[in-house]
Amino acid sequence: MQFYHLPKAEGIDDLTLAEAPEPEPQRGQVKLRMRAWSLNYRDLMVATGRYGVGGTKPGLIPLSDGAGEVVAVGPDVRRARPGDRICPTFMQGWLGGEVIAEARQRALGGGIDGVLADYVLVDQEDLVHIPDHLSFEEAATLPCAAVTAWNALFGARALRPGETVLVLGSGGVSVFALQFAHAAGARVIATSSSDAKLARLRALGAADGINYRDTPDWQEAVRALTGGRGADYVVEVGGAGTLPRSIAAARIGGQVALIGVLTGGQIDPAPIMRRNIVLRGIFVGSREMFAAMNRAITHHRIRPQIDKVFAFAQAREAYRHLQAAGHVGKVVIRAA
Ligand SMILES: NC(=O)c1ccc[n+]([C@@H]2O[C@H](COP(=O)([O-])OP(=O)(O)OC[C@H]3O[C@@H](n4cnc5c(N)ncnc54)[C@H](OP(=O)(O)O)[C@@H]3O)[C@@H](O)[C@H]2O)c1
Repeated sequence: MQFYHLPKAEGIDDLTLAEAPEPEPQRGQVKLRMRAWSLNYRDLMVATGRYGVGGTKPGLIPLSDGAGEVVAVGPDVRRARPGDRICPTFMQGWLGGEVIAEARQRALGGGIDGVLADYVLVDQEDLVHIPDHLSFEEAATLPCAAVTAWNALFGARALRPGETVLVLGSGGVSVFALQFAHAAGARVIATSSSDAKLARLRALGAADGINYRDTPDWQEAVRALTGGRGADYVVEVGGAGTLPRSIAAARIGGQVALIGVLTGGQIDPAPIMRRNIVLRGIFVGSREMFAAMNRAITHHRIRPQIDKVFAFAQAREAYRHLQAAGHVGKVVIRAA
């Protein structure tokens, strides 16, 4: 079989195609023939050795996100059968409840090898079945970005109809958050660097769009759009550079889901205290959240937004497309 790995994690050009014998499933394991994969911003950080405390393990197989078909199972497998359509979960071993320390070390394509291979083995506990109405390419977008967005909105205090959700930018996490919030009856305000992207976000259900290049004080625009109250939820993918404005855009007592690290900067903690903001750190989510999200995706017939699909042989081009940040939604790789 063919697989990609990162011998030195020195950048996208380090992504190297290699061959290995097909793995055989052991007790409790499922063998997947991978049919599609998707990229996350995190995969750019992994490829350049900027992800996690110890950097990238030499030779790591990248990517957390993929979807495939079960082609064989080991002894004692009850949760899947040959022919089933499956996504491995992002954090292997986090089945439900609060995240456990060991699972944090077992994120696919980060702490342990990922899924950018023709075949992968997964423990039967660390997988979910794909909603029937989704293609493999659509399903491959779910494990990281979609579960993160779901956790941000429903993982603690669940979003209520009529509340306002602010999403930053038009990347993978933000577009899923827009779709889930819209389906849940919430009002979505989106920001973006581009009016053309804002038009796409409005078509997906955003009630309002703010171009943060033209309107650098976009927190004021959010407050104006909400009658001075502010957003009930902020899906904060920007990091330290956007967090002060996100806090100012949130209502008093509002929820700010800390997700991303796209920008750097300094944080003054005083407004968090004075405005009673609830800051919640998010690290993707559990299998339980993934399954609950899939039920909502099935019920609302939600379709992941795929910006562009690349062939397996063009994996480096797919990474470069994500890095250029012209996309809306997800960048996908399809099996040969
Ligand atoms: N904590 C977790 O569990 C978790 C999970 C997934 C992702 N993340 C993090 O969340 C972030 C987003 O990930 P992703 O995969 O969704 O990224 P992505 O698909 O690469 O999207 C990035 C988009 O963010 C927007 N953006 C860039 N700079 C911005 C800024 N200063 N203000 C507002 N928007 C900005 C841009 O869209 P526009 O051109 O429309 O502005 C850009 O296309 C990354 O930092 C990633 O590491 C964390």
